[in-house]
Amino acid sequence: MAAPSIRHQANDAQNLFDNRASRYDDSWHPRFARHMVELAQLRPGEHVLDLACGTGLVSYPASSAVGPAGTVMGVDISSGMLAQAKAKWSSDAHNNVEFHQHSITGLDSLPELKGKRFDVIICASALVLLEHPAEALKQWVSYLEPGGRLITDVTHPQSQLPFIAFERVGHALGKPVPYYRTSFRGPNDLRFIMEAAGLQVADVDLVSQMDIDGKDDLQSYLQDSDNPRIERTFDVEDADAMFDQNIDTWPMTDLAVPGLKLQARKLFEEEWAKLADATGKIREVDGVFVGIGRKPQ
Ligand SMILES: C[S@@+](CC[C@H](N)C(=O)[O-])C[C@H]1O[C@@H](n2cnc3c(N)ncnc32)[C@H](O)[C@@H]1O
Repeated sequence: MAAPSIRHQANDAQNLFDNRASRYDDSWHPRFARHMVELAQLRPGEHVLDLACGTGLVSYPASSAVGPAGTVMGVDISSGMLAQAKAKWSSDAHNNVEFHQHSITGLDSLPELKGKRFDVIICASALVLLEHPAEALKQWVSYLEPGGRLITDVTHPQSQLPFIAFERVGHALGKPVPYYRTSFRGPNDLRFIMEAAGLQVADVDLVSQMDIDGKDDLQSYLQDSDNPRIERTFDVEDADAMFDQNIDTWPMTDLAVPGLKLQARKLFEEEWAKLADATGKIREVDGVFVGIGRKPQ
């Protein structure tokens, strides 16, 4: 295996999300973020830390839920995403919300957090972007009040399969893509790192990501973990088409350079074939595992 190239997760995330910021909300993220807030069961007057707040899709519904007696602090590394979040701010409704640009993997150097404790920490659609999520969680828990809740999610190991295969190819060729989804094999991996961070974990739910036509309520998106919704079914022969569809989009472009592309295609075909089940089909699940943990009193 080739030695991985040196990269910095927060810089990668900044590039990736600065590029996506203006289009980010045209996706399933607004609905999913609202469902994360619902799962957090916020109460008026609570203080919320929204880690990797992006365009504010969690921060603003959280602001409404906690009301004027509560507060929401959003932290994100991407100035592009934060600019979108700040553009939604209104002095009439959002005096309880503030945003800061900082890495969520180094919160101790954010001055505005010094001495602060929160009732609830939410990190939506971002834990799998971190290189060392278990360490990050440990640090986050230190900002929770005793009895406080932390809610976060990781993608199902059978979701977004072309990207899983590209992640493995990138690692093999020393050009890792800037996310770490392959390190979560299922709900127990999330439960394990939450418990290791000192949380009591009651629930790990499976929630659909993709919008379902005409459905908006959380109940419609909660799934049976043992029998998840299959979003798409592929054949092993679809490998080339999947490779061609994605190779020219960043960050896979690192693999598209002459001398590497052919090797990347071959490895992609191998990784794609490994995703097949006993019937030879590759079944893509639509879902993320959402864990809710409580810091002991
Ligand atoms: C998929 S978006 C999720 C945004 C928001 N939580 C939501 O649900 O819409 C991931 C966010 O994580 C942020 N991010 C990734 N790594 C980060 C880091 N190390 N520090 C701070 N933000 C980070 C990105 O800038 C991006 O805004």
